[in-house]
Amino acid sequence: MAVGVFDSGLGGLTVFDAVTKRLPDVPFVYLGDNANAPYGVRDADDIYNLTRAAVTRLWDEGCDLVILACNTASAAALKRMQETWLPKDKRVLGVFVPLIEALTERQWGDNSPPHEVAVKHVALFATPATVASRAFQRELAFRAVGVDVEAQPCGGVVDAIEHGDDILADALVRSHVEALLRRMPYPDAAILGCTHYPILQDTFQQALGDSVKVFSQADLVASSLADYLQRRPEFLGPGTESKFLTTGDPATVSRHATRFLRHTVTFEQA
Ligand code: DGL
Repeated sequence: MAVGVFDSGLGGLTVFDAVTKRLPDVPFVYLGDNANAPYGVRDADDIYNLTRAAVTRLWDEGCDLVILACNTASAAALKRMQETWLPKDKRVLGVFVPLIEALTERQWGDNSPPHEVAVKHVALFATPATVASRAFQRELAFRAVGVDVEAQPCGGVVDAIEHGDDILADALVRSHVEALLRRMPYPDAAILGCTHYPILQDTFQQALGDSVKVFSQADLVASSLADYLQRRPEFLGPGTESKFLTTGDPATVSRHATRFLRHTVTFEQA
């Protein structure tokens, strides 16, 4: 009854951590495509092909349901996968919608027309590919009216995190926040639209100031998955074992992942 969790690299571990805490009896198989990260600088076709290959690999592990714990893959590939490729007995879920539902104060399945919400000025921090896709604005427009979104493509941040360069990652976040605040000086809320960014949540919060509510995905995705599995238990696949797989070098990825999560994580070759 395993569930797959996919990211281009380490970022999805923030989601993995939250879903395993929320659903301790479910085995989760994590796959990081570290050999091809970062995805955020790739074009949409490339992201689609890499994501499809990763999801297929997770099916081989007995995961009929796969969480794309990667905003870039969710933004650039998910809709196309669902519309043109996915067999009926498999499911792939993204990480965008739970976040937008929280921002727009909606319950799952509330398909009422878009309405006014409390937040009016939203700062979105994400990879260049996620920002270019405009998927966040598209999903938001289905649910809310009158929300002004200013998006900042945070070039370099994922690479710095993947390579364990915390000082560079911190400096890049501060400069991306500054750049956004020049265009939108008083956001009410900020979205960390990349699963790597929660590791730098304190830096984002400090640079944005205390008055800005920072939304990040891990816990929201975990609640949404728990809810989904209650309604659709048939998508718990036949896999039985939790494991960490990587397309990169397992020893290097295990070292970075252990630092990233602050507990020991051992990856195997995908
Ligand atoms: N964690 C991915 C995301 O949420 C990383 C993107 C990348 O590989 O650039 O967007």
